Amino acid sequence: MARDESSGGSCIVGGKKIAVLFTIGILLVATGITLYPVMDRVIQNKINEKLVLKPNSEVSKQWKDPPVPIYLQFFIFDVVNPMEAKEGKRPFLAQKGPYSYREHRPKQNITWNSNTASVTYNEQMSFVFDAETSCDSCDPFTDTVTTVNIPLVTLAEAAKKLPAFVRAFIAALFDGFKEKLFTKRRVQDLLWGYPDPLFMEYNNLRKDIPLFIRNFLPEINPIIALQQNNSYDGVTSVFTGEKDISLLVEYLDWKGMMELKVWNTRYANMINGTDGSQFAPGTSSDDTLYVFVTQLCRSLYLTHVSKIQVYGIDALQFCVPAEAFKNATLNPDNQGFALPNVTRLEY
Ligand SMILES: *[C@@H]1O[C@H](CO)[C@@H](O)[C@H](O)[C@H]1NC(C)=O
Ligand SMILES: *[C@@H]1O[C@H](CO)[C@@H](O)[C@H](O)[C@H]1NC(C)=O
Ligand SMILES: *[C@@H]1O[C@H](CO)[C@@H](O)[C@H](O)[C@H]1NC(C)=O
Ligand SMILES: *[C@@H]1O[C@H](CO)[C@@H](O)[C@H](O)[C@H]1NC(C)=O
Ligand SMILES: *[C@@H]1O[C@H](CO)[C@@H](O)[C@H](O)[C@H]1NC(C)=O
Repeated sequence: MARDESSGGSCIVGGKKIAVLFTIGILLVATGITLYPVMDRVIQNKINEKLVLKPNSEVSKQWKDPPVPIYLQFFIFDVVNPMEAKEGKRPFLAQKGPYSYREHRPKQNITWNSNTASVTYNEQMSFVFDAETSCDSCDPFTDTVTTVNIPLVTLAEAAKKLPAFVRAFIAALFDGFKEKLFTKRRVQDLLWGYPDPLFMEYNNLRKDIPLFIRNFLPEINPIIALQQNNSYDGVTSVFTGEKDISLLVEYLDWKGMMELKVWNTRYANMINGTDGSQFAPGTSSDDTLYVFVTQLCRSLYLTHVSKIQVYGIDALQFCVPAEAFKNATLNPDNQGFALPNVTRLEY
């Protein structure tokens, strides 16, 4: 539902996440490339030593603010027949995108923990629209899409569980408002936020109602947004690789948690591997690479697909396999991601 300001993180909370993922597809930049020089053990050991993260080392400077560009791309689904869809007919969706953003993620507040061979930091994430890697003549400031009116649906769903006299208040709000099930918004607003008129009106009316009803109705942050610019990713600890190079930059914990509490199974709640920007040396094509993606609030895995060359250097290419996105019937592991446990969506 409303954005959780206190957490400052991007593990999007509440009904919003479900609804937003329904209307907006995130293209996960799911390709990892890893170099595989075949070499002498002695040389490999020397290289491993150099890769360990230490204060003020050359690799730590690169790690702190990686020079390799990262892009986050959005595809948005435009409902082309909202009138029919409202009457229960099948909605037709036209895909628009990609709307591409160059991501900057400098690490801040870096603290070295020698006892656990780990380092703690927080990443500030900012996003700048990049026309070059976006669809031709796409402009998030002028392009509009018709999509499900998330605040309306959320409020209507939430109201079902409320006592009748509180529901009457919400019904009055809907009556006075004539909100529609579908709403037309600028791409910029859907991605980066807009003040929702229904939520604003709700907050206004809420102020004037008797206290005994008001207690059932929390104040709602009226800003609806998928992403937050210049927000923090959450305090993160990763291994430096000092004790075990195979753990290089693997998550130790995120926001103080060694596993999530959002999903319904132990498997789904795992915080695995690295953030995907880097992997331990010595990767072979038989390996499965694990990543935890804070923006999706889940772990994923990558498997080897091909051998390629990057600037003339031999490399292995890894991708998230199609199997990872299959439904729970075809991939029972995904059962745990079916619906977040709403009572636990606290952070
Ligand atoms: C950095 O550390 C300071 C002092 O502990 C804290 O007040 C601040 O919130 C931290 N910033 C981030 C982005 O974590
Ligand atoms: C995010 O903030 C930066 C700096 O404040 C700004 O340059 C950039 O355009 C913003 N991005 C979006 C998508 O609003
Ligand atoms: C997390 O990693 C373990 C291996 O350490 C693996 O068995 C499990 O499938 C992974 N979980 C997810 C959600 O990818
Ligand atoms: C799972 O996906 C398969 C293939 O797309 C489909 O045939 C099946 O009906 C789906 N099962 C459920 C429960 O949605
Ligand atoms: C959801 O979380 C609450 C609180 O942790 C727990 O009591 C409840 O059993 C959980 N429900 C499911 C379906 O996991």
